[in-house]
Amino acid sequence: MTSEGQQRPITDTQVTDSDLSEQIKAVTKDSHVRAENTELMRSYVKGQVTLSQYKMLLCSLYEIYKALEEEMDHNASHPAVAPVYFPVELARLECLEKDLEHFYGPDWRNKIVVPAATLNYTQRLREIGEKHPEYLVAHAYTRYLGDLSGGQVLGRITQKSLGLKSNDGLSFFYFPGVSSPNRFKQLYRGRMNSIELSSEERAGLLQEAVRAFQLNIQVFDDIQKTLSIVELGAESSWTHEKPIQQQQQHLVHGEKPVQISSSFLSASPLLRMMLGVCVALAVGMGMYAI
Ligand code: HEM
Repeated sequence: MTSEGQQRPITDTQVTDSDLSEQIKAVTKDSHVRAENTELMRSYVKGQVTLSQYKMLLCSLYEIYKALEEEMDHNASHPAVAPVYFPVELARLECLEKDLEHFYGPDWRNKIVVPAATLNYTQRLREIGEKHPEYLVAHAYTRYLGDLSGGQVLGRITQKSLGLKSNDGLSFFYFPGVSSPNRFKQLYRGRMNSIELSSEERAGLLQEAVRAFQLNIQVFDDIQKTLSIVELGAESSWTHEKPIQQQQQHLVHGEKPVQISSSFLSASPLLRMMLGVCVALAVGMGMYAI
């Protein structure tokens, strides 16, 4: 049974142009189109997502939701956060842990690898959690309402593209506490509209929503670039005997997520190629082993 909306019923769900839910949707419309058109999302929609892409996306989402949900928890009683605080219905962290364990095994925490843009995103979440908790609403909206919208389709595409026989590894897409995503989104919008904000806070929050989309776009682009570089490295190697996906797992070790800066790597094609060769050599020679 779902607990959605049981504690704080919304009586007035009428939406007007001046409502936060409408404003945030309008202000992020172009960003949404840009997000849908990232290379990663386009591969998704075409049913061409690879296991490496999905695994790195899960690693990134883990870091992002860890920061988002911890900051939401810390600020749960803040007047702007409280109305949209739905940990039972929405929390993704445990689902992501389950999915990561499925793909990386019990030692998954030591195998997390994320591109630099992911840490940029989490740093912003930590910063606003401390200085502007009301902006967390913009981030929660961007992620959770996205997950309950296009995200539901992406779950089915992932299963088909990767040929997964069961739902193992796909927990992220399932919201057992939400019986109807559409009804829940209505409720969520009503809650957003009930938040009292000064005009300055509202303007800041709307701007933050655009930033939240941008941070997601950067993560997608960085995943795409990072994987193409690692794969280039693997292709350039004359020593590699293992499939690329196995090699990538070995590139990442340590308790903290390993951060790869693709903007640095993509600085020049020559540098990119040389680094590709180095990565391949490092993998081939076992230099990654700690
Ligand atoms: C291929 C990728 C994507 C597809 C196909 C897609 C599709 C959709 C669709 C069809 C809706 C409308 C659902 C409705 O009106 O009930 C929607 C809403 C939404 N999407 Fe996406 N989406 C994609 C990517 C993203 C990404 C990457 C984000 C953010 C990180 C995102 C965030 C949102 C949000 C926040 C909403 C709610 C809009 C609102 O009602 O205010 N989407 N998406």
